[in-house]
Amino acid sequence: MHKFAFFDTKPYDRPGFEKYSEGTDIEFKFFETKLDEDTAGLAEGCEGVVVFVNDTVNAAVIDKLYSMGIRLIALRCAGFNNVDTRAAFEKIHIVRVPAYSPYAVAEHAMAMLLCSLRRIHKAYNRTREFNFSLNGFTGFDLHGKTVGVIGTGKIGRVFIDICRGFGMKVIAYDPYPAKDSGIDYVSLDELFASADIISLHCPLTKETEYIINKDSIKLMKKGVFIINTSRGQLIDTDDLIEGIKNKIIGAACLDVYEEESNIFFEDNSGHIMQDDTLARLISMPNVILTSHQAFLTSDALENIAKITIENIQAFLNGNEIKNELCYHCGKSDICKKERAGKCF
Ligand code: NAI
Repeated sequence: MHKFAFFDTKPYDRPGFEKYSEGTDIEFKFFETKLDEDTAGLAEGCEGVVVFVNDTVNAAVIDKLYSMGIRLIALRCAGFNNVDTRAAFEKIHIVRVPAYSPYAVAEHAMAMLLCSLRRIHKAYNRTREFNFSLNGFTGFDLHGKTVGVIGTGKIGRVFIDICRGFGMKVIAYDPYPAKDSGIDYVSLDELFASADIISLHCPLTKETEYIINKDSIKLMKKGVFIINTSRGQLIDTDDLIEGIKNKIIGAACLDVYEEESNIFFEDNSGHIMQDDTLARLISMPNVILTSHQAFLTSDALENIAKITIENIQAFLNGNEIKNELCYHCGKSDICKKERAGKCF
């Protein structure tokens, strides 16, 4: 049996992985703890680790895993900003699930927008107390409004289709525009200045870190709605809070938060919240926060398990690893993926 240490396990992760590993020679050792320097030792005797968005996969963890004989890090997610791909090169192969359900994330983005705009979360609470007043619930029609989409990859494009279904005007920014998509690409500044709603669907990179900050907020229309289902560090949270207090930002719909890693996915209801910035955000009536749940549909979980196991099998069988990525991918011919089917 090939053993893989599965970190940050949640109850909803196991059924899919147990289903798709049945009858294979892959066995998962499930750990609830996250991967970091202190917990890496739990993978002793395993050939690889399976990790998620808030596991720490820095150079120190990679070196420790490598010294223990680990040769595969399988990300059960699309984003890989938590992995030091430079440190892993020529030591440990990295695979990910590039797409498992763009619909799950795009639909959640729209769900948050509708909930926030039409105050569904507040109406739910009011009517449960037999308070049928409508005061403070005035929204606006989405039809005819302009949505600015930053990042027109898989999720961004599904979100655009949904918005078009609502009769919205779509503008977008992406340094790599999708050809023949009929999308109206504009500069980032133009997008900030024209959009009634801004939705972030780009990855977290050096270029996109804090793409929403005090300078970009200054350019925005008064009352703009901001949706972030991508990564927390795309937004400077202090600047966002200032923008909300100054009434430039009309509402924020956040599925991710820049300091989420030790808070999200866990029940903290019995603890005093130590993160004052998060507490401030949550206290604001025009902020809706979900705990990085945009991916969480049964369809997505099935796809994540199936594709991760296919990735592991490709590695074990020595086949082409189509979902492998590395520091040099697409940037230089040091990466051998095009020629040899593997990055190194
Ligand atoms: P994708 O790789 O298909 O698309 C990303 C797009 O962003 C590409 O078109 C790329 O050209 C563009 N981009 C790159 N640099 C940019 C920049 N500087 N400015 C604007 N656009 C830029 O990725 P996909 O699948 O659409 O996912 C997008 C992001 O969604 C992921 O990076 C991840 O952070 C996040 N995500 C969040 C989930 C959640 O549960 N909240 C689940 C899955 C993904």
